[in-house]
Amino acid sequence: MLRLKPDAVTFTRLREQIKMSLLKLDNISKEYERGGKKFFAVNNASLEINQGDYVNITGRSGSGKSTLLNIAAGMLSPSAGSVELDGELLTGKSDKELSLMRNNKIGFIPQGFSALNYLTVTENILLPFYLYKNKDKNFEDAEGWARILLERFNIDKLAEAYPNELSGGELRRVVIARALINRPKIIIADEPTADLDLENINNIMQIFKNLNEQDGVTLLIVSHDQEALSCGKRLFIMSDGILNLKN
Ligand SMILES: Nc1ncnc2c1ncn2[C@@H]1O[C@H](COP(=O)(O)OP(=O)(O)O)[C@@H](O)[C@H]1O
Ligand SMILES: [Mg+2]
Repeated sequence: MLRLKPDAVTFTRLREQIKMSLLKLDNISKEYERGGKKFFAVNNASLEINQGDYVNITGRSGSGKSTLLNIAAGMLSPSAGSVELDGELLTGKSDKELSLMRNNKIGFIPQGFSALNYLTVTENILLPFYLYKNKDKNFEDAEGWARILLERFNIDKLAEAYPNELSGGELRRVVIARALINRPKIIIADEPTADLDLENINNIMQIFKNLNEQDGVTLLIVSHDQEALSCGKRLFIMSDGILNLKN
């Protein structure tokens, strides 16, 4: 006889499996127009990221990496396909709902990111906390967390400095701290080590490695740097909008 209801064990297993999946991109495409001709910046890309994963994407400039990352972070809507974040579909959500979800669950570091020059380092880090209302929010808790992040990233001496007084490597660490202030489940970062020297690249990669291994933060990172790519658990290559697993 066909059993329609799963038994308790199967049900628990199914629930665990569903819970494991944090970000699911299903057949994502993004069509743009260039010189009057349509083309796919992202062409039918699928990617499933589980909690605790560390996924790298690499590929030539113009291959569609940033477009894919912006779609994954709910900043851009795809022409086709769906994005599921922590069991919820992003497709069809209002901008307000999207920004709430994003700010609760994702720490997004866009390409060429920077900080607001008229705010101090600490104010920059706390900004996402102030901007997005959360009924459970506790200012002292967030301030304490900002201080911990400043110390952990070895930029505590710069707490009251302004972004234009910082080196490139220091500024990158500030932006990572800012992405972590709302305690996201996943960090999505677009070329977080671009234009840095080797020492600073290694420094940032150590931060990501610790976040993943010690804090269980899930990572999705786009990079060109070989040092950066060596840290992840899975590597994908993007080529002309097509995403393929490398290893
Ligand atoms: N808003 C847009 N309108 C038209 N074309 C775009 C737009 N954004 C990106 N593109 C094009 O899509 C392609 C992929 O861009 P992008 O995702 O930024 O690549 P990557 O991050 O891999 O360098 C590029 O050819 C780029 O010029
Ligand atoms: Mg890019």
